[in-house]
Amino acid sequence: MKIESLKKLFIKKYGDSEHDLKVFLAPGRVNLIGEHIDYNGGYVLPAALEFGTTLLVRQRDDDKIRLATTNFPYEKEFSLKEIGEEKTGEWVDYAVGVMVENKKSGCPVTKGYDLLYHGEIPNGAGLSSSASIEVVTAFALQTLEGCETDTVKIALLAQRAENQYVGVNCGIMDQFAVANGKQDHAILLMCDTLEYSHVPFRTGAYKIIIGNTNKRRGLVDSAYNERRQQCETALEILKKETPDLNYLAQLKPDQFEKLANHLVDETVRRRALHVVEENQRVLDSVEGLKNNDLEQFGKLMNESHESLRYLYEVSCNELDVMVEEARRIPGTLGARMTGAGFGGCTVSLVHEDSVEQFVQQVGQAYEERTGLKAEFYVCGTGDGVKELKEDE
Ligand code: GLA
Repeated sequence: MKIESLKKLFIKKYGDSEHDLKVFLAPGRVNLIGEHIDYNGGYVLPAALEFGTTLLVRQRDDDKIRLATTNFPYEKEFSLKEIGEEKTGEWVDYAVGVMVENKKSGCPVTKGYDLLYHGEIPNGAGLSSSASIEVVTAFALQTLEGCETDTVKIALLAQRAENQYVGVNCGIMDQFAVANGKQDHAILLMCDTLEYSHVPFRTGAYKIIIGNTNKRRGLVDSAYNERRQQCETALEILKKETPDLNYLAQLKPDQFEKLANHLVDETVRRRALHVVEENQRVLDSVEGLKNNDLEQFGKLMNESHESLRYLYEVSCNELDVMVEEARRIPGTLGARMTGAGFGGCTVSLVHEDSVEQFVQQVGQAYEERTGLKAEFYVCGTGDGVKELKEDE
């Protein structure tokens, strides 16, 4: 939706006022490679998308906060002193969690605001619609409250909101990518130290296609926590052999090979093997990108999927079917699931001449085999959170 139409909606909802109406945008993200690595302290390679969550916000003259979205009917109103008192289980929790964290971090919400959100990221698809709400809220309120807007600190704050207020034990990748993306670049993030760089994502004639399986991501929270737990178990055991080890992803594949026999539990060993190899794949992918070797990049995407399917066991039939069909298209260099797994999206690297065929054939075969209708987004990489000024 155009900003002008959103402004009209805002005024219809909250009325006209003398105060300035400000507009902010935080993107969604796609993880190109490096899955289930962030909480294991290794490298990930996500990119911000070109679409996300737009937030229109205006200061009020009293102490009320009002939240609404164009996406759902649910709305909420409370006073400044009631911030965080009631957890609703609704989308507003992402915004309220950020307000709670803003206060803890020394930038409390001191004025009333009217907020209207407009999300273009499909919900529950693993493209970080929640991180996008969190980051846009933190950035907007810190800007309006006159605080310093450091996008690395904002990512950490948004992650705390998700961990502590919403109660989802996610890593740092999503909030970081949403806050720090850069157009035409991927973000190489070291999740332990938060050192990062923008890697030019020059894919020339190749396009990124995100395929939404439209499979609701059931089980994701419990299975996610279980994977985290298994990685911690592996770390505890390996730490006895290598006391300096703080995270599993610090192990290189050859180091791990020598230690693997200490992991007697087969499942735990497979989880750890995924982490060590996936981390190495991220580094190899970046080399591939630097050398313009997209075939190498695609091959690593494929390997990543197999590892998530067989070693980490976070794929599902729908993701596997879509990936398999994607790879049948002649112009596809690589295809994998992206995000936490158990549903959500795939990401494929496809030659521009094959995009039409991809969308048509993969969509049809996927529907025939799963009974679900897929959606596809052919997309480029966008910027991280920002304020949209009049002339943009
Ligand atoms: C979810 C989490 C991230 C990350 C991915 C898996 O998106 O929010 O922190 O762990 O899963 O890579």
